[in-house]
Amino acid sequence: KLMKVFVTRRIPPEGMKILSAGGVCEVSLWDSDEPVQRADLLKGVQGAHGLLCLLSDRIDAEVLDAAGPNLKVISTLSVGFDHMALDEIKKRGIRVGYTPDVLTDATAELTVALLLSTARRLPEGVEEVKNGGWSSWKPLWLCGYGLSHSTVGVIGLGRIGMAIARRLMPFGVNRLLYSGRTAKAYAAEVNGEFVPLDTLLSESDFIVVSCSLTPETQGLCDKAFFSKMKKTAVFVNSSRGTVVNQEDLYEALKSGQIAAAGLDVTTPEPLPTNHPLLTLKNCVVLPHIGSATHSTRGIMGALSAQNLLAGLQGTAMPSELTF
Ligand code: GLV
Ligand code: GLV
Repeated sequence: KLMKVFVTRRIPPEGMKILSAGGVCEVSLWDSDEPVQRADLLKGVQGAHGLLCLLSDRIDAEVLDAAGPNLKVISTLSVGFDHMALDEIKKRGIRVGYTPDVLTDATAELTVALLLSTARRLPEGVEEVKNGGWSSWKPLWLCGYGLSHSTVGVIGLGRIGMAIARRLMPFGVNRLLYSGRTAKAYAAEVNGEFVPLDTLLSESDFIVVSCSLTPETQGLCDKAFFSKMKKTAVFVNSSRGTVVNQEDLYEALKSGQIAAAGLDVTTPEPLPTNHPLLTLKNCVVLPHIGSATHSTRGIMGALSAQNLLAGLQGTAMPSELTF
């Protein structure tokens, strides 16, 4: 008898193909590009053996209870797992799959693009070309900040942080600082200096946040944090929105406490179009597209499907979360 799987969104075809082949499971798909409503999620998971979800689905005790005792595997099409109540999942003996590594390059690349766009004011420049603000080549116009001879600070030098650092060094970065829980031996490759957060904040010209969202990092970037940064520094976040206190970031940008910010993640997502951050020229906001290349999303789809099938069959997953 086929096992039941609920998929909470249209996923790349690479993933659907794997799920439909092999005669392991019968797929019930939330056949939309928009998120499943809570009530439909609770209904959709009923009796499911497997759940394939996204980072926009909150997987908590209520969802697990709605699914019932059949549920043995949850596979998320993301590297982040802060949307899942892992303690509740563990209690029920459910295995979890996720998609690390395969999105590291795409996410690092996007983060570098966002950093450069923010520092060199590309969206403002594009806007000026379109709206007639470009009157002449002007020596003092649209000046920003460059990476050459700069100090870069990375908060969270994990897989993605390291990939960002590797890509930034060839721009002529002078020092690469990082902070986090522990020093990393692999940081030697980018001459990374493990420093206290306060040192990183006061000495960096660019600050890149690439840590995971945990109780420790939630709200880490607040008023005190921004007040320790240089007034000429550029802040970039491609991790999770709630690592940042957005009211404090708004004030820091508005008052000139820091130079600019580039965000690929916000609270909430989507960010309402009337949000104060969107009124600021020195804030570049992207719609959480770190891993959004055609090939990366295809690979993420395939990996999440393989993780799910392995979980259903009780075999080793290509990428199982240990927790
Ligand atoms: C994206 O943010 C992910 O967690 O994959
Ligand atoms: C810029 O275009 C220059 O010629 O300096």
